[in-house]
Amino acid sequence: MTSTPLPARTLETERAIARVLATVRRNVGSFGAAYPDDTTTDGARYPLRPAANGFAEGANRGWTTSFWPGMQWIAWELTGEDVFRDAASAHAADFGRRVHDGEDLDTHDLGFLYSLACVAPSRLLGDSAARAAALDAAGHLMRRFLPSAGIVQAWGDLADAAQRGRTIIDSLMNMPLLTWAARETGDPLFAEAVARHTDQLRRHILRPDGSTFHTFYWDAETGEPLRGATEQGAFDDSCWARGQAWGIYGFALNHRATGDPALLAASRTCAEYFLAHLPADGVPYWDLVYTDGSDAPRDSSAGAIAVCGLYELAALDPAHAARWREAADRILASLAEDYAPAQPADSDAVLLHSVYDLPKDVGIDEGTLWGDYFYLEALMRAARPDWRPYW
Ligand code: GLY
Repeated sequence: MTSTPLPARTLETERAIARVLATVRRNVGSFGAAYPDDTTTDGARYPLRPAANGFAEGANRGWTTSFWPGMQWIAWELTGEDVFRDAASAHAADFGRRVHDGEDLDTHDLGFLYSLACVAPSRLLGDSAARAAALDAAGHLMRRFLPSAGIVQAWGDLADAAQRGRTIIDSLMNMPLLTWAARETGDPLFAEAVARHTDQLRRHILRPDGSTFHTFYWDAETGEPLRGATEQGAFDDSCWARGQAWGIYGFALNHRATGDPALLAASRTCAEYFLAHLPADGVPYWDLVYTDGSDAPRDSSAGAIAVCGLYELAALDPAHAARWREAADRILASLAEDYAPAQPADSDAVLLHSVYDLPKDVGIDEGTLWGDYFYLEALMRAARPDWRPYW
């Protein structure tokens, strides 16, 4: 019996997935229960998270640790191999400990952290301890909601005058934890916070030309919108590539959650601007002010996030689905061809050439935990269009 050959693109996707799985399998063995650092060094190896502020080397701190178990959950869904599930479950338990002990929780990034580390196993395995930890984290996140401004404060503790009333476009990706908590508990306050926060970002962080500010300040007492600024972009009024990608994906996910058509329009607007500012190979420079011919570094992680956002947009926007899917496929093919290590042994990262924070000279032209995660999520979405994301 002859079998029908797979289309070339499907074969490429399956090959790319196989390479990622080989790296994840090896990293499970080498990292053990510890957490790798945010980025690789010299594009090759992830050192363990350094000891700092009373935390031991490899401890669960910062905003990126959940991307590692997030990859393990996808690897488990793809293969059914116990090694991935067991490693990810051990991390879920550590995230339960982190929230219980109140360690490093003064951040809006609780959404990134607990959606991947704990909502995923709650959904996939019915893990009740992970569910309780995620609900606890959602409760902590709600404490950052400033009712006058209608926003969730991004950084710092709430008494930090420099950060008070400030949020950032990345925060859109933290809202799904609140949406999940609203569904789990029936408490409408979670959904109200999502609706108000996302509406404020749509009105103020999205600019009239379709680009976005990285960060925006409100007066926390009067609620008055104050000004946009950047932290990781080139200039206050430039368009940080990863922020724009968070906008595509985040507005789309929050449209799915709230049904608000204005959020779908915002995601489309972010996508149009992003696609119009890509260089020929479809992978953005770290800030969208740079165009073909620039020697500025690329941010492949922004490309991977945008691919996930475009696939999400395709599912939510049937009238334009072909356009979004085609754009996502093109960027993903370029990432797999030219931004992934040729051989799994070449790097601990599965996606090379990302930028963490160029103005602070951190993680330039490196692999990053979030770039790796979203590259694998993008491949999963391409290979299994009916896959249910953890967001
Ligand atoms: N959410 C932080 C970053 O994208 O760098």
